[in-house]
Amino acid sequence: MPETSSHPLPLPLAPADATESPEAATLPILLVPDPRLRSKTRAVGPGDAAMVRALAPQMLEAMYKAPGIGLAAPQVGTLLRLVVVDLQKNDKPDPLVLVNPEIMAASKELATREEGCLSLPGQFAEVTRPARVKLRYLDLSGAKREIEAEGLLATCLQHELDHLDGVLFVDHISALKRNMLLRKLAKDLKAKVRD
Ligand code: NI
Repeated sequence: MPETSSHPLPLPLAPADATESPEAATLPILLVPDPRLRSKTRAVGPGDAAMVRALAPQMLEAMYKAPGIGLAAPQVGTLLRLVVVDLQKNDKPDPLVLVNPEIMAASKELATREEGCLSLPGQFAEVTRPARVKLRYLDLSGAKREIEAEGLLATCLQHELDHLDGVLFVDHISALKRNMLLRKLAKDLKAKVRD
């Protein structure tokens, strides 16, 4: 996640000329139907630490630029269990990097929210998920952390964790709606190529 049509967030951080110099090139975000978006990921291990510490800020930059509020490593072609999110507090950057995140508990109570995804640009659907979740993860220094989330953050985290298992938000809606949305995406992307 997401792109959300109902929760536009301001675009922070990335300077306007970030794309001007090659070394500052933003990571491209993969689009459906790229098979890497459907791939399983593996846990980040000690040998990945340096790579992950370099990748996380690049993922945040790509997410801010999109703009979106969450991004998972498979969306930039890295099949590791790594997620970044930023819901922004008081319009200020509030980045959260989750390494090897796991859901420990989810509420029975459900919540329905409109979701979008940077890998399915311009497509939105209502998705029902647990309203609250408790997660454990490692931060970038390798320290164990826990977080309890509700509201948009709970939705966002569940959406991003799904990406680590090759699951997209459209997998949570009816086949009829999913097929409509995927056809529309294919058409939109084709039109964009022609432009
Ligand atoms: Ni997504």
